[in-house]
Amino acid sequence: MNNEKKILLGITSGIAIYKVVDLCSRLVKAGYEIEIIMTENATKMISPLVFETISRGKVHTDMFHSGHHEEVEHIEMARRADLFLIAPTTVNTLAKIANGIGDNLLTSTVLAYDKTVMLALSANTKMIENPATIENINKLQDRNFEFINSKSGMLACNNIGNGRLAEPEEIFERVEDYFVEKDLKGKNIIVTAGPTREDVDPVRYITNRSSGKMGFAIAKKAFQRGANVTLIHGDCKVSPPYGPENIRINYNHELKSEIEKRFDDADCLIMAAAPCDFRVEKYSENKIKTKNNLILNLVENEDILKYFGEKKKEQMVIGFAAETFDLHENALKKLESKNCDYIIANDVSSSTSGFDVDDNKVSIISREDTIDMPLMPKIQVADEILDLI
Ligand code: CTP
Repeated sequence: MNNEKKILLGITSGIAIYKVVDLCSRLVKAGYEIEIIMTENATKMISPLVFETISRGKVHTDMFHSGHHEEVEHIEMARRADLFLIAPTTVNTLAKIANGIGDNLLTSTVLAYDKTVMLALSANTKMIENPATIENINKLQDRNFEFINSKSGMLACNNIGNGRLAEPEEIFERVEDYFVEKDLKGKNIIVTAGPTREDVDPVRYITNRSSGKMGFAIAKKAFQRGANVTLIHGDCKVSPPYGPENIRINYNHELKSEIEKRFDDADCLIMAAAPCDFRVEKYSENKIKTKNNLILNLVENEDILKYFGEKKKEQMVIGFAAETFDLHENALKKLESKNCDYIIANDVSSSTSGFDVDDNKVSIISREDTIDMPLMPKIQVADEILDLI
Protein backbone atom coordinates (compact mmCIF):
# COMPACT_ATOMS: atom_id res chain seq x y z
CA MET A 1 0.00 0.00 0.00
CA ASN A 2 1.03 3.57 -0.66
CA ASN A 3 -0.11 5.04 2.62
CA GLU A 4 3.07 7.01 3.01
CA LYS A 5 2.36 8.97 -0.18
CA LYS A 6 0.36 12.17 -0.20
CA ILE A 7 -1.29 13.38 -3.38
CA LEU A 8 -2.53 16.89 -3.81
CA LEU A 9 -5.36 16.66 -6.32
CA GLY A 10 -6.30 19.86 -8.14
CA ILE A 11 -9.70 19.83 -9.84
CA THR A 12 -10.73 22.44 -12.40
CA SER A 13 -14.00 22.94 -14.23
CA GLY A 14 -13.68 20.58 -17.21
CA ILE A 15 -16.85 18.68 -18.05
CA ALA A 16 -14.85 15.45 -17.58
CA ILE A 17 -14.78 16.22 -13.86
CA TYR A 18 -17.15 13.25 -13.35
CA LYS A 19 -14.26 10.88 -14.17
CA VAL A 20 -12.26 12.33 -11.30
CA VAL A 21 -14.74 10.92 -8.77
CA ASP A 22 -13.75 7.43 -9.97
CA LEU A 23 -10.07 8.38 -10.04
CA CYS A 24 -10.24 9.70 -6.50
CA SER A 25 -11.85 6.49 -5.30
CA ARG A 26 -9.12 4.38 -6.97
CA LEU A 27 -6.38 6.47 -5.35
CA VAL A 28 -7.95 6.16 -1.91
CA LYS A 29 -8.41 2.39 -2.28
CA ALA A 30 -4.74 2.08 -3.26
CA GLY A 31 -3.78 3.73 0.02
CA TYR A 32 -2.82 7.23 -1.09
CA GLU A 33 -3.62 10.12 1.21
CA ILE A 34 -5.54 12.73 -0.77
CA GLU A 35 -5.91 16.44 -0.21
CA ILE A 36 -8.00 18.33 -2.75
CA ILE A 37 -8.15 21.83 -4.15
CA MET A 38 -11.16 22.68 -6.33
CA THR A 39 -11.45 25.88 -8.30
CA GLU A 40 -14.59 27.90 -7.70
CA ASN A 41 -15.98 26.95 -11.13
CA ALA A 42 -15.33 23.25 -10.46
CA THR A 43 -17.55 23.46 -7.37
CA LYS A 44 -20.40 24.61 -9.63
CA MET A 45 -20.16 21.28 -11.48
CA ILE A 46 -19.75 18.82 -8.59
CA SER A 47 -20.22 19.56 -4.93
CA PRO A 48 -17.03 19.47 -2.83
CA LEU A 49 -18.98 17.19 -0.52
CA VAL A 50 -18.71 14.37 -3.09
CA PHE A 51 -14.92 14.62 -3.14
CA GLU A 52 -14.72 15.14 0.62
CA THR A 53 -16.65 11.91 1.18
CA ILE A 54 -14.76 9.86 -1.39
CA SER A 55 -11.30 11.13 -0.55
CA ARG A 56 -11.92 11.04 3.21
CA GLY A 57 -9.79 14.18 3.21
CA LYS A 58 -10.03 17.92 3.07
CA VAL A 59 -11.35 19.80 0.06
CA HIS A 60 -10.02 23.35 -0.16
CA THR A 61 -11.77 25.86 -2.36
CA ASP A 62 -11.12 29.36 -1.12
CA MET A 63 -7.88 31.27 -0.77
CA PHE A 64 -9.32 33.90 1.51
CA HIS A 65 -11.60 32.08 3.90
CA SER A 66 -11.39 32.89 7.60
CA GLY A 67 -10.47 30.46 10.34
CA HIS A 68 -6.90 29.46 9.63
CA HIS A 69 -4.10 31.38 11.18
CA GLU A 70 -1.16 29.17 12.03
CA GLU A 71 -0.37 28.03 8.51
CA VAL A 72 -0.32 29.66 5.13
CA GLU A 73 -2.54 27.13 3.42
CA HIS A 74 -1.14 27.02 -0.11
CA ILE A 75 2.47 26.95 1.12
CA GLU A 76 1.74 24.13 3.56
CA MET A 77 -0.25 22.07 1.07
CA ALA A 78 2.61 22.39 -1.42
CA ARG A 79 5.09 21.28 1.24
CA ARG A 80 3.04 18.25 2.33
CA ALA A 81 2.38 16.70 -1.10
CA ASP A 82 4.57 14.04 -2.75
CA LEU A 83 2.81 14.57 -6.08
CA PHE A 84 0.56 17.33 -7.37
CA LEU A 85 -1.97 16.07 -9.91
CA ILE A 86 -4.43 18.37 -11.66
CA ALA A 87 -7.32 16.55 -13.34
CA PRO A 88 -9.01 17.77 -15.35
CA THR A 89 -6.75 20.67 -16.27
CA THR A 90 -8.66 23.19 -18.36
CA VAL A 91 -6.71 25.17 -20.96
CA ASN A 92 -7.47 28.28 -18.90
CA THR A 93 -5.71 26.88 -15.81
CA LEU A 94 -2.94 25.60 -18.08
CA ALA A 95 -2.46 29.12 -19.46
CA LYS A 96 -2.29 30.62 -15.99
CA ILE A 97 0.26 28.05 -14.83
CA ALA A 98 2.40 28.52 -17.94
CA ASN A 99 2.51 32.25 -17.26
CA GLY A 100 3.10 32.14 -13.53
CA ILE A 101 -0.31 33.51 -12.60
CA GLY A 102 -1.57 32.68 -9.12
CA ASP A 103 -5.04 34.16 -8.97
CA ASN A 104 -6.74 31.43 -6.95
CA LEU A 105 -5.85 28.79 -4.37
CA LEU A 106 -5.01 26.15 -7.01
CA THR A 107 -2.73 28.25 -9.20
CA SER A 108 -1.05 29.88 -6.16
CA THR A 109 -0.28 26.41 -4.78
CA VAL A 110 1.25 25.41 -8.14
CA LEU A 111 3.57 28.42 -7.84
CA ALA A 112 4.59 27.30 -4.36
CA TYR A 113 5.21 23.69 -5.42
CA ASP A 114 8.73 22.59 -6.33
CA LYS A 115 8.23 18.91 -7.23
CA THR A 116 6.49 17.33 -10.22
CA VAL A 117 3.06 18.56 -11.25
CA MET A 118 1.04 16.18 -13.45
CA LEU A 119 -1.48 17.82 -15.73
CA ALA A 120 -4.29 15.74 -17.24
CA LEU A 121 -5.62 17.91 -20.03
CA SER A 122 -9.12 18.07 -21.42
CA ALA A 123 -11.00 20.59 -23.58
CA ASN A 124 -12.73 20.98 -26.90
CA THR A 125 -10.48 20.07 -29.88
CA LYS A 126 -10.21 23.66 -31.14
CA MET A 127 -9.19 24.82 -27.65
CA ILE A 128 -6.63 22.01 -27.23
CA GLU A 129 -5.17 22.67 -30.68
CA ASN A 130 -5.19 26.45 -30.36
CA PRO A 131 -1.63 27.80 -30.91
CA ALA A 132 -1.79 29.54 -27.52
CA THR A 133 -2.49 26.20 -25.79
CA ILE A 134 0.28 24.48 -27.74
CA GLU A 135 2.69 27.26 -26.78
CA ASN A 136 1.69 26.89 -23.12
CA ILE A 137 2.22 23.12 -23.20
CA ASN A 138 5.65 23.59 -24.82
CA LYS A 139 6.64 26.11 -22.17
CA LEU A 140 5.78 23.73 -19.33
CA GLN A 141 7.43 20.74 -20.94
CA ASP A 142 10.83 22.28 -20.17
CA ARG A 143 9.91 22.66 -16.51
CA ASN A 144 8.86 20.22 -13.80
CA PHE A 145 5.55 19.25 -15.41
CA GLU A 146 4.34 15.93 -16.79
CA PHE A 147 1.42 15.73 -19.17
CA ILE A 148 -1.29 13.13 -19.37
CA ASN A 149 -2.44 13.91 -22.88
CA SER A 150 -6.07 14.16 -23.84
CA LYS A 151 -7.53 11.45 -26.09
CA SER A 152 -9.65 11.41 -29.22
CA GLY A 153 -13.31 10.50 -29.08
CA MET A 154 -16.79 11.94 -28.72
CA LEU A 155 -16.67 15.22 -26.77
CA ALA A 156 -19.27 16.92 -24.61
CA CYS A 157 -19.75 19.49 -27.40
CA ASN A 158 -20.92 16.62 -29.64
CA ASN A 159 -17.83 16.78 -31.86
CA ILE A 160 -15.47 13.91 -32.40
CA GLY A 161 -11.85 14.88 -31.91
CA ASN A 162 -8.95 15.27 -29.52
CA GLY A 163 -9.82 16.61 -26.06
CA ARG A 164 -11.24 13.82 -23.92
CA LEU A 165 -9.73 13.48 -20.47
CA ALA A 166 -7.70 10.25 -20.18
CA GLU A 167 -9.62 7.46 -18.47
CA PRO A 168 -9.28 7.14 -14.68
CA GLU A 169 -7.35 3.83 -15.09
CA GLU A 170 -4.68 5.57 -17.14
CA ILE A 171 -4.35 8.55 -14.80
CA PHE A 172 -4.18 6.15 -11.85
CA GLU A 173 -1.44 4.13 -13.56
CA ARG A 174 0.55 7.29 -14.28
CA VAL A 175 0.41 8.15 -10.58
CA GLU A 176 1.56 4.63 -9.69
CA ASP A 177 4.38 4.85 -12.28
CA TYR A 178 5.57 8.10 -10.76
CA PHE A 179 6.35 6.51 -7.41
CA VAL A 180 8.28 3.52 -8.75
CA GLU A 181 12.08 3.79 -8.66
CA LYS A 182 13.39 4.25 -12.21
CA ASP A 183 16.17 1.68 -11.98
CA LEU A 184 15.75 0.55 -15.62
CA LYS A 185 16.02 4.05 -17.09
CA GLY A 186 17.80 4.01 -20.45
CA LYS A 187 17.22 0.29 -21.06
CA ASN A 188 15.46 -0.78 -24.26
CA ILE A 189 13.35 -3.81 -23.51
CA ILE A 190 11.24 -5.86 -25.92
CA VAL A 191 8.50 -7.91 -24.31
CA THR A 192 6.34 -10.36 -26.24
CA ALA A 193 3.01 -11.61 -24.90
CA GLY A 194 -0.02 -13.70 -25.68
CA PRO A 195 -0.74 -16.22 -28.41
CA THR A 196 -0.18 -16.12 -32.14
CA ARG A 197 -2.45 -17.92 -34.57
CA GLU A 198 -2.21 -20.03 -37.71
CA ASP A 199 -5.02 -19.91 -40.23
CA VAL A 200 -6.51 -23.17 -41.44
CA ASP A 201 -9.01 -21.73 -43.93
CA PRO A 202 -10.74 -18.33 -44.33
CA VAL A 203 -12.84 -18.84 -41.18
CA ARG A 204 -10.80 -21.10 -38.89
CA TYR A 205 -7.47 -20.91 -37.14
CA ILE A 206 -5.46 -22.72 -34.50
CA THR A 207 -4.07 -20.93 -31.47
CA ASN A 208 -3.35 -21.63 -27.78
CA ARG A 209 -4.56 -20.72 -24.29
CA SER A 210 -2.07 -17.97 -23.52
CA SER A 211 -3.90 -14.95 -22.02
CA GLY A 212 -1.03 -12.46 -22.30
CA LYS A 213 -1.25 -11.58 -18.60
CA MET A 214 2.34 -12.50 -17.73
CA GLY A 215 3.85 -10.55 -20.64
CA PHE A 216 1.61 -7.55 -19.97
CA ALA A 217 2.67 -7.55 -16.31
CA ILE A 218 6.35 -7.56 -17.34
CA ALA A 219 5.81 -4.74 -19.84
CA LYS A 220 3.89 -2.66 -17.30
CA LYS A 221 6.53 -3.09 -14.60
CA ALA A 222 9.44 -2.46 -16.98
CA PHE A 223 7.77 0.79 -18.08
CA GLN A 224 7.12 1.82 -14.46
CA ARG A 225 10.78 1.16 -13.72
CA GLY A 226 11.78 3.63 -16.43
CA ALA A 227 12.67 1.37 -19.37
CA ASN A 228 11.76 2.09 -23.00
CA VAL A 229 9.42 -0.80 -23.56
CA THR A 230 8.04 -2.26 -26.76
CA LEU A 231 5.24 -4.72 -26.14
CA ILE A 232 4.52 -7.01 -29.10
CA HIS A 233 1.45 -9.15 -28.56
CA GLY A 234 -1.22 -11.33 -30.11
CA ASP A 235 -4.96 -11.38 -29.42
CA CYS A 236 -5.07 -11.26 -25.62
CA LYS A 237 -7.88 -11.53 -23.11
CA VAL A 238 -6.84 -8.41 -21.20
CA SER A 239 -6.09 -4.85 -22.32
CA PRO A 240 -2.44 -3.92 -22.80
CA PRO A 241 -0.97 -1.64 -20.13
CA TYR A 242 -0.68 2.12 -20.66
CA GLY A 243 2.81 3.35 -21.41
CA PRO A 244 4.78 0.85 -23.50
CA GLU A 245 4.84 1.07 -27.29
CA ASN A 246 2.06 -1.32 -28.17
CA ILE A 247 2.28 -3.51 -31.28
CA ARG A 248 -0.50 -5.93 -32.09
CA ILE A 249 0.33 -8.94 -34.27
CA ASN A 250 -1.46 -12.13 -35.30
CA TYR A 251 1.14 -14.41 -36.85
CA ASN A 252 4.59 -15.79 -36.00
CA HIS A 253 6.21 -14.05 -38.97
CA GLU A 254 4.86 -10.67 -37.78
CA LEU A 255 6.13 -11.35 -34.26
CA LYS A 256 9.57 -12.18 -35.61
CA SER A 257 9.79 -9.18 -37.94
CA GLU A 258 8.64 -6.71 -35.25
CA ILE A 259 11.33 -8.04 -32.88
CA GLU A 260 13.89 -7.99 -35.71
CA LYS A 261 13.29 -4.26 -36.33
CA ARG A 262 14.23 -3.47 -32.73
CA PHE A 263 16.62 -6.21 -31.68
CA ASP A 264 19.93 -4.51 -32.54
CA ASP A 265 19.10 -1.56 -30.26
CA ALA A 266 17.61 -3.69 -27.49
CA ASP A 267 19.23 -4.43 -24.15
CA CYS A 268 16.86 -7.27 -23.41
CA LEU A 269 14.29 -9.49 -25.12
CA ILE A 270 11.73 -11.21 -22.90
CA MET A 271 9.73 -13.82 -24.83
CA ALA A 272 6.61 -14.40 -22.77
CA ALA A 273 4.55 -14.95 -25.93
CA ALA A 274 3.25 -18.36 -26.88
CA PRO A 275 3.87 -18.52 -30.63
CA CYS A 276 2.12 -21.35 -32.45
CA ASP A 277 4.47 -24.32 -32.65
CA PHE A 278 2.71 -25.67 -35.73
CA ARG A 279 0.99 -24.44 -38.88
CA VAL A 280 -1.13 -26.33 -41.37
CA GLU A 281 0.96 -27.70 -44.19
CA LYS A 282 -1.45 -26.32 -46.76
CA TYR A 283 -3.79 -23.42 -46.09
CA SER A 284 -7.18 -23.97 -47.74
CA GLU A 285 -8.33 -20.99 -49.82
CA ASN A 286 -11.91 -22.23 -49.49
CA LYS A 287 -13.76 -23.01 -46.30
CA ILE A 288 -13.23 -26.68 -45.54
CA LYS A 289 -16.54 -28.54 -45.65
CA THR A 290 -17.65 -30.34 -42.51
CA LYS A 291 -16.81 -34.03 -42.54
CA ASN A 292 -15.95 -36.79 -40.15
CA ASN A 293 -12.31 -37.54 -39.30
CA LEU A 294 -10.84 -34.45 -40.90
CA ILE A 295 -7.06 -34.75 -40.81
CA LEU A 296 -4.93 -31.62 -40.84
CA ASN A 297 -1.26 -32.05 -41.57
CA LEU A 298 0.72 -29.77 -39.28
CA VAL A 299 4.33 -28.76 -39.80
CA GLU A 300 6.69 -27.21 -37.28
CA ASN A 301 7.14 -23.42 -37.14
CA GLU A 302 10.43 -21.64 -36.77
CA ASP A 303 11.52 -21.18 -33.16
CA ILE A 304 11.70 -17.39 -32.80
CA LEU A 305 13.42 -17.41 -29.41
CA LYS A 306 16.12 -19.74 -30.75
CA TYR A 307 16.66 -17.43 -33.74
CA PHE A 308 17.27 -14.41 -31.50
CA GLY A 309 19.19 -16.48 -28.92
CA GLU A 310 21.65 -17.38 -31.68
CA LYS A 311 21.73 -13.84 -33.05
CA LYS A 312 22.31 -12.00 -29.77
CA LYS A 313 25.48 -10.06 -29.03
CA GLU A 314 25.23 -7.90 -25.91
CA GLN A 315 21.49 -8.45 -25.49
CA MET A 316 20.08 -10.42 -22.60
CA VAL A 317 17.57 -12.98 -23.86
CA ILE A 318 14.97 -14.39 -21.47
CA GLY A 319 12.58 -17.14 -22.53
CA PHE A 320 9.73 -18.97 -20.86
CA ALA A 321 9.14 -22.68 -20.61
CA ALA A 322 5.58 -23.90 -20.26
CA GLU A 323 5.82 -27.46 -19.01
CA THR A 324 3.47 -30.10 -17.70
CA PHE A 325 6.17 -32.54 -16.47
CA ASP A 326 9.92 -32.63 -15.65
CA LEU A 327 9.88 -28.84 -15.25
CA HIS A 328 13.53 -28.22 -14.41
CA GLU A 329 15.05 -30.72 -16.86
CA ASN A 330 12.92 -29.54 -19.79
CA ALA A 331 13.52 -25.88 -18.99
CA LEU A 332 17.27 -26.41 -18.79
CA LYS A 333 17.21 -28.11 -22.18
CA LYS A 334 15.38 -25.08 -23.62
CA LEU A 335 17.93 -22.73 -22.04
CA GLU A 336 20.72 -24.55 -23.86
CA SER A 337 19.02 -25.25 -27.18
CA LYS A 338 17.72 -21.67 -27.55
CA ASN A 339 20.89 -20.05 -26.15
CA CYS A 340 19.01 -17.96 -23.56
CA ASP A 341 20.49 -16.22 -20.54
CA TYR A 342 17.52 -17.21 -18.41
CA ILE A 343 14.48 -19.42 -18.72
CA ILE A 344 11.41 -18.74 -16.61
CA ALA A 345 9.86 -22.15 -16.14
CA ASN A 346 6.28 -22.67 -15.11
CA ASP A 347 4.13 -25.72 -14.60
CA VAL A 348 1.06 -25.03 -16.72
CA SER A 349 -0.79 -28.12 -15.53
CA SER A 350 -1.70 -26.39 -12.24
CA SER A 351 -5.03 -24.53 -12.18
CA THR A 352 -3.75 -21.90 -9.72
CA SER A 353 -0.77 -20.71 -11.74
CA GLY A 354 0.34 -20.27 -15.34
CA PHE A 355 -2.22 -19.94 -18.14
CA ASP A 356 -5.09 -17.49 -17.83
CA VAL A 357 -4.85 -16.75 -14.08
CA ASP A 358 -3.42 -13.78 -12.17
CA ASP A 359 -0.83 -15.75 -10.21
CA ASN A 360 2.21 -17.67 -11.26
CA LYS A 361 4.68 -20.04 -9.65
CA VAL A 362 7.92 -19.99 -11.58
CA SER A 363 11.49 -21.18 -11.40
CA ILE A 364 14.18 -18.84 -12.68
CA ILE A 365 16.79 -20.96 -14.40
CA SER A 366 20.25 -19.90 -15.58
CA ARG A 367 23.36 -21.92 -16.39
CA GLU A 368 24.61 -21.32 -12.85
CA ASP A 369 21.49 -21.45 -10.75
CA THR A 370 17.86 -22.50 -10.28
CA ILE A 371 15.64 -20.40 -8.04
CA ASP A 372 12.20 -21.81 -7.20
CA MET A 373 9.85 -18.95 -6.44
CA PRO A 374 6.65 -19.30 -4.39
CA LEU A 375 3.19 -18.71 -5.89
CA MET A 376 2.77 -14.94 -6.28
CA PRO A 377 0.84 -12.40 -8.37
CA LYS A 378 2.16 -12.10 -11.93
CA ILE A 379 2.94 -8.43 -11.33
CA GLN A 380 5.33 -9.50 -8.56
CA VAL A 381 6.84 -12.26 -10.73
CA ALA A 382 7.44 -9.51 -13.30
CA ASP A 383 9.55 -7.56 -10.81
CA GLU A 384 11.63 -10.66 -9.98
CA ILE A 385 12.30 -11.21 -13.70
CA LEU A 386 13.21 -7.56 -14.28
CA ASP A 387 15.63 -7.69 -11.36
CA LEU A 388 17.74 -10.02 -13.57
CA ILE A 389 18.49 -7.18 -16.00
N1 CTP B 1 8.95 -19.90 -28.65
C1 CTP B 1 9.33 -19.24 -29.79
N2 CTP B 1 8.94 -19.68 -31.02
C2 CTP B 1 8.18 -20.79 -31.13
C3 CTP B 1 7.78 -21.49 -29.96
C4 CTP B 1 8.19 -21.01 -28.73
O1 CTP B 1 10.00 -18.22 -29.70
N3 CTP B 1 7.81 -21.19 -32.32
C5 CTP B 1 9.43 -19.41 -27.34
C6 CTP B 1 8.34 -19.00 -26.34
O2 CTP B 1 8.05 -17.63 -26.45
C7 CTP B 1 8.98 -19.32 -25.01
C8 CTP B 1 9.95 -20.44 -25.33
O3 CTP B 1 10.13 -20.44 -26.73
O4 CTP B 1 9.75 -18.22 -24.53
C9 CTP B 1 9.46 -21.81 -24.90
O5 CTP B 1 8.16 -22.03 -25.39
P1 CTP B 1 7.38 -23.36 -24.97
O6 CTP B 1 6.02 -23.33 -25.57
O7 CTP B 1 7.52 -23.59 -23.51
O8 CTP B 1 8.24 -24.52 -25.61
P2 CTP B 1 8.59 -24.92 -27.06
O9 CTP B 1 9.92 -24.36 -27.41
O10 CTP B 1 7.45 -24.60 -27.98
O11 CTP B 1 8.77 -26.50 -26.88
P3 CTP B 1 7.69 -27.62 -26.43
O12 CTP B 1 6.37 -27.16 -26.99
O13 CTP B 1 8.20 -28.85 -27.07
O14 CTP B 1 7.71 -27.66 -24.94
